[in-house]
Amino acid sequence: MARRKLIAGNWKMNGDLAALAEIDAIAAAAVANPAVDVGIGVPATLIGPAHARAPRLAIGAEDVHAVDHGAFTGSVSAPMVREAGATFAIIGHSERRAGCGETDADVKAKAEALLRHGLAAILCVGETSDQRNAGNAVAAVTGQVRASMPWGAASGWLSVAYEPIWAIGSGHTPTLEQISAMHGAIRAMLTELLGADAASMRVLYGGSVTAENASELLGAPDVDGALVGGASLTAAKFVPIIKAAAGLA
Ligand code: PGA
Repeated sequence: MARRKLIAGNWKMNGDLAALAEIDAIAAAAVANPAVDVGIGVPATLIGPAHARAPRLAIGAEDVHAVDHGAFTGSVSAPMVREAGATFAIIGHSERRAGCGETDADVKAKAEALLRHGLAAILCVGETSDQRNAGNAVAAVTGQVRASMPWGAASGWLSVAYEPIWAIGSGHTPTLEQISAMHGAIRAMLTELLGADAASMRVLYGGSVTAENASELLGAPDVDGALVGGASLTAAKFVPIIKAAAGLA
């Protein structure tokens, strides 16, 4: 089935109120390219201001706690980011899995929290270079999908982002064959887990997506969009990726 492409930014721990000026042109590009879904994940402090500045642009959190409220110093929850104006959240990013010790079970609980609160999810998976070199990339990634997919995951509310860890921020991308093989394997796993509902679920690619390589990467079979880090920080770099997706829609 035809799936709308989703281009999502991930600002990581970057951006301040002044940087929100970039949102204006990104929001305008989203309106000008209605065949593509566009979103920007921003630091929690910027969700409210970004939403106020661009109320029609999907603003996302970069993480949420699995629990709604309680004694979890420093964390923010799904209802909190929703109240601030977020409509989606990135969960399970490799930087949080590696840096904060998040497990597949944690990611699954976060996905369930998003589902409870009507927020869309971008659930990240990806292999290390060691796993790929050992020939274990597909097993590692499909294992993450199996272990972190929540019950009730259906329809368009959840997207999977395949982000090889070695491709993030490195300027290196997998070959189109490697991407297609992995996206095909993820889709087969989704179908095994969810049956026919998997058909509407998007599988994004992430890792060193730029204006220069976007058309090629987004045109690969089974690639339903992109999760973009560095190149989402400015409209000058991000808007061409939105346009590349629109050109393929
Ligand atoms: P990158 O980051 O586009 O800077 O490689 C992608 C990500 O980590 O989501």
